[in-house]
Amino acid sequence: MDKNVNRIIKMETRRQRAELQLIPSENYVSKNVLRALGSVFTNKYAEGYPEKRYYQGNKYADQIEKLAIQRAKILFDTPFANVQANSGSPANLAVLFALLDVGDTIMGMSLSSGGHLTHGHPKVTLSGKFFNSIQYGVSPEGFIDYKVMREMAHQHKPKLIISGGSAYSRTIDFKLIGEIAKEVGAYHMADISHIAGLVVAKTHPSPTPFADIITTTTHKTLRGPRGALILTTDAGTNKDPELASKIDKAIIPGTQGGPHLNNIAGIAVALGEAQSPQFTEYINQVVLNSKALCNVFIKKGYTIISGGTDTHLLLLDVSAKNIDGWAAAWALEYAGVIVNRNIIPFDTKTPFYPSGIRLGSPALTSRGMKEEQMEYVATIIDKTLNYTVRSMDTNFSNNSKGENKEKRAVFLKKLKTDTYLKEIKKEVADFASRFPIYPTIE
Ligand SMILES: Cc1ncc(COP(=O)(O)O)c(C=O)c1O
Repeated sequence: MDKNVNRIIKMETRRQRAELQLIPSENYVSKNVLRALGSVFTNKYAEGYPEKRYYQGNKYADQIEKLAIQRAKILFDTPFANVQANSGSPANLAVLFALLDVGDTIMGMSLSSGGHLTHGHPKVTLSGKFFNSIQYGVSPEGFIDYKVMREMAHQHKPKLIISGGSAYSRTIDFKLIGEIAKEVGAYHMADISHIAGLVVAKTHPSPTPFADIITTTTHKTLRGPRGALILTTDAGTNKDPELASKIDKAIIPGTQGGPHLNNIAGIAVALGEAQSPQFTEYINQVVLNSKALCNVFIKKGYTIISGGTDTHLLLLDVSAKNIDGWAAAWALEYAGVIVNRNIIPFDTKTPFYPSGIRLGSPALTSRGMKEEQMEYVATIIDKTLNYTVRSMDTNFSNNSKGENKEKRAVFLKKLKTDTYLKEIKKEVADFASRFPIYPTIE
């Protein structure tokens, strides 16, 4: 093994072991998934689809891709699956390319309400720049405002309505969104990247009966390697018999070249694992754990967007604590707790320096943690934030954007040398070592 690369991989392995990972879009894949990812399939070019390849030597490539497709169709109960999208964003891009012409109207949830960039975020994304993007959002209580969504759909007549999100913690009413799409003659694409594992385990209703197309990443609650699935449903196929073929063509030649077969092998392994009763148990615990985190934060007086969670994630507004999401996330990293800063509904701050942090339970639950440990984790987070606010200057609002780069640099320097945070980090590492990941991997 390359000495330098090996050294860095070892350090990353140690980091993953020693820190508490609460980013809701991350997880720990099984060793069997890791093995498939590191397999010789990485050597192979397989442009095209099983039995319709442009290159020779694809006997086993066909087998592995067919297996992944078959497992995806069974898990999500759909007649068609494409497993080649390199990740979630290319999958969503391919759907837009398959269904729309440049300038068509699309409707997705806004970023600040918990939507994803690829759902039509204006100006800076392809979906927001090449299409006429109308964005729906949440009510002041933090729940999707379906009434306003319906009105907007009738007013703007989008060709595509996108449901799903990245920082939305509540059950999504796919049935109602499907009805709204039908009323205005739009396609309904459900992006279940975050909740795919919950859909498989039936802790979140499936969009399959109510959407035309479903996209999902494979690396979040589904606990597979980085990649994505694009599924078309019976409803979608009835509406447009060419839908599946349009999706295949939108991946190759539309937006990608050769598939990443080693990832597809890893996806096949993960989809196999997701069929097991143990996976359902795992997901049930994921939801119990995120609810347990919520309960502790509520008791400690934090503001949780929508007041709680139905899923694997929660969004905390930390602004009332006199700290922003940027400072909170950095302070927590120095205490060995990994979260991501996140914009919140009606945020007066910016996505780079937002008011919130987003937390999730999938990775900690994969380590075997339960409600009791969530109490500890939430307490550590609270302790770290309280200490930071008490002992450091966290007021960065010198202008409306709250940039204050000089003051933020001083803050980061302080965090680096703070002895109390170092003590917490050590305590966290001791705690984390009781829940091993990859114990036989150096
Ligand atoms: C809902 C949703 N869709 C799409 C994506 C994009 O996935 P990727 O980062 O793999 O491109 C994400 C990623 O966070 C997501 O949350």
